[in-house]
Amino acid sequence: MPSRALRALEALATPHGLDRYLELVHPMLTVRELRAEITDVAHPTADSVTLTLRPTRQWQGFRAGQYVQLTVDVDGVRRTRCFSPSCSAHRADGRLELTVKAHPDGVVSQYLKGHARRGLVVGLAQAAGTFALPQPRPARVLLVSGGSGITPVLSMLRTLCDEGHEGDVTFLHYADTEADVAHLTALREIALLHRNVRVVLAYTRQRSGGDLHGLFDETHLAEAAPWYADAQTYLCGPPALMNAVRAHYAAKGIDDSLHSEEFVLASTVAGATDEVSGDVAFARTGARATNTGATLLEQAEAAGLEPEYGCRMGICFSCTQTKLSGCTRNVRDGELNSDPDTEVQLCINVPVGTVELDM
Ligand SMILES: Cc1cc2nc3c(=O)[nH]c(=O)nc-3n(C[C@H](O)[C@H](O)[C@H](O)COP(=O)(O)OP(=O)(O)OC[C@H]3O[C@@H](n4cnc5c(N)ncnc54)[C@H](O)[C@@H]3O)c2cc1C
Ligand code: FES
Repeated sequence: MPSRALRALEALATPHGLDRYLELVHPMLTVRELRAEITDVAHPTADSVTLTLRPTRQWQGFRAGQYVQLTVDVDGVRRTRCFSPSCSAHRADGRLELTVKAHPDGVVSQYLKGHARRGLVVGLAQAAGTFALPQPRPARVLLVSGGSGITPVLSMLRTLCDEGHEGDVTFLHYADTEADVAHLTALREIALLHRNVRVVLAYTRQRSGGDLHGLFDETHLAEAAPWYADAQTYLCGPPALMNAVRAHYAAKGIDDSLHSEEFVLASTVAGATDEVSGDVAFARTGARATNTGATLLEQAEAAGLEPEYGCRMGICFSCTQTKLSGCTRNVRDGELNSDPDTEVQLCINVPVGTVELDM
């Protein structure tokens, strides 16, 4: 559509925007908004769901390892969460594959596991994040994952295979048991087809089958990828696995070669735990609670409020609220903010003394 005609139509559609009217015709018909239609649903393990998505034409693609934000309506409330595609960045049909682990009380993950169906249209944001394979590709690559952290590193593996990468690649994945490995068949196929790729499965609660057993141990690295000190390592998994691998790389002085992605806020900076004092006051609702030292998001939830959030780790900005007064500390970089009437991300800021929020 010529841009002048489009601008005229958009002016007519103000204040709702043209996409609000077009979605009445078909939800995938959009001018500005990026959305995606679910074209396939599978359940690779008892507690996960794999979705194939066909994005609208605004989709710009992704780099293996990056994440997207997905928005769904759950009981009439729009909820946004981050998910890392597990498919190759070069997938021929341009579709995206996401694998979501259903958390026992998780609003969005349980909704997707129970309600995702072909034809459902969801909101999508362009891919983001710095956890990604660099160019040129490293000669040797070690991919380490645990549980649902498999997704970004599986995308890296599939992307390297599609590119005909010839260097050594080891994919070391931790799961409770074989039944908990999402994409097991795909992993076995990749290992069969690519002589330079080694897939090593480590089971933490199963003594038979698999290649390794028990929790991460530095001997696992020596066994799975004896060359790991000369490789670039990409790591994603639960905090305990991430901490153990990081500690080992730091002790060996090779932490520069380790790149990691967190799904939950696990590492906070020193100094983030100031002496805890004062109150957290919520001006609009009149609620007030003694400061516990937890993040403002957790303290708001504990006070019975239901603030919007997405990532709970400072990357999506959906939890941003106005701080009316008081001082906060950002737990990711340690910075203090004592400006009044300023925006704060509730999920990564803790109060330092009494703080008043406009909520
Ligand atoms: C960059 C990034 C990429 C991600 N990629 C994936 C992915 O590929 N696959 C995937 O399954 N998940 C992924 N996640 C996690 C995902 O975004 C959600 O956090 C997760 O699905 C839980 O959302 P929920 O709405 O079901 O739970 P919520 O309703 O938000 O939370 C329910 C409870 O679980 C806790 N909780 C929230 N998130 C987590 C979590 N991740 N782990 C443990 N407890 C949690 C909350 O504190 C709360 O108590 C990613 C997260 C980030 C930040
Ligand atoms: S919830 Fe994403 S930035 Fe706070």
